[in-house]
Amino acid sequence: MNLELICINPACRARYAITDVLYNCPRCDGLLDAGFVAPAASPAELKKTWRERRMSNRPIDQSGVWRYREMLPFEESGLHIVTLREGNTPLLPAPRAAEYAGLDALTFKHQGFNPTGSFKDNGMTCGATQAMRLGMTRVACVSTGNTSASMAAYAAAAGLHPLIFIPNGNISYGKLAQALEYGARTFQVEANFDQILALVRVLAERLGIYLLNSMNPFRVEGQKTIMIEMLDQRDWVVPDWVVLPGGNLGNVSAFGKGLRELRDAGFIDRLPRLAVVQAAGSAPFYAFVRDGGEFRAVLHPETLATAIKIGDPVSWPKAKREIEASDGVVECVSEQEIADAKAVIGQCGIGCEPASAATLAGLRKLRASGVVAKNADVVAVLTGNVLKDPDYIYRYHTGVLDAPDGHRLKSTFGNAPVVVPNDADEIARRIG
Ligand code: F0G
Repeated sequence: MNLELICINPACRARYAITDVLYNCPRCDGLLDAGFVAPAASPAELKKTWRERRMSNRPIDQSGVWRYREMLPFEESGLHIVTLREGNTPLLPAPRAAEYAGLDALTFKHQGFNPTGSFKDNGMTCGATQAMRLGMTRVACVSTGNTSASMAAYAAAAGLHPLIFIPNGNISYGKLAQALEYGARTFQVEANFDQILALVRVLAERLGIYLLNSMNPFRVEGQKTIMIEMLDQRDWVVPDWVVLPGGNLGNVSAFGKGLRELRDAGFIDRLPRLAVVQAAGSAPFYAFVRDGGEFRAVLHPETLATAIKIGDPVSWPKAKREIEASDGVVECVSEQEIADAKAVIGQCGIGCEPASAATLAGLRKLRASGVVAKNADVVAVLTGNVLKDPDYIYRYHTGVLDAPDGHRLKSTFGNAPVVVPNDADEIARRIG
């Protein structure tokens, strides 16, 4: 098998060795795909094999990414795999959230059940594996928090040295704490995500450090297994819609690529429609798809959902390709809509971080405008764990959560703790 990195620009399509250390096409600067060759075994055989691997105690079978390794042909030897048993995230029915969105039913695929609490682990196991395969010693990323937490963990597990660059004061403490605990050298830069990404690209080139941001094609390979696992869990019944939040747009690119490959290889006979939801203050892709024309970055992105506070998403050309291929849509939601949707997801006993709640907020709007039908079969992907950003939660429930423009958000579904005296009668009276 002769796998290659392929430039996605239709006018270029240059090809490079799969082991070249490249993030963009040296000829035209386009994004690169890891090439794919359909597995030799039939879909029926592989569906059976993948199901059987769930019974196995081998680490690469227990991983919800490498279990599907026939779809990740870039690492044929299996010798370099770095796994923390990522993936294996549940599909959770959420009737209360469905009702809130105006749907008959809704299922969340909760990526917050991953080892470091976000979907980044699905991609990072592949990114770290490729770093090992290439013999790299240092890895770096810029991050709004989850990528850095994940990269730090996988680098530590693999014995690589992680270097992390984050926007000073703009990531949640839960995520920063993870990076510190996993031993990453952490630089808090006085700039926003987009500016730091440009900086880190220069440093990676100059110092020979392997870059593990989502334009790294191998991260995208790993994240595509989120869709493979979802379909495996649904006995290969294709949903009508898959809804996800959009920041740097790596995840939608990965989902779309994985779904197209599954269709082309005969695992499924149609694609679900992809719906990407952005925060209104950081919504360049929403504006681009709505207005057409040139892609215009948002210079000063704002949102309390810091994970998706990105104004110049690098993967927009890939995301555009996947929205077109799947007849997808892009929606944007306000800070209040995100905050309320998040509380409703909490009321389902599920919970998630703010960026993830953009899915339910977006679905509610897409339902109201008739884009999504009431009886549609919908899977929404919750990207991060509820404990990633406890400060946001406490502020919302106690009525002191302020939007970036300074206005106080309504605590619509607020649930503030109550201070009581040490007095059984008084407490009993209050409980009622
Ligand atoms: N949800 C969460 C919880 C995230 O952390 C991110 C991205 C997204 C959604 C958006 O995904 O970028 O693939 O469109 N977080 C990145 C990070 C940027 O650095 O952790 P995307």
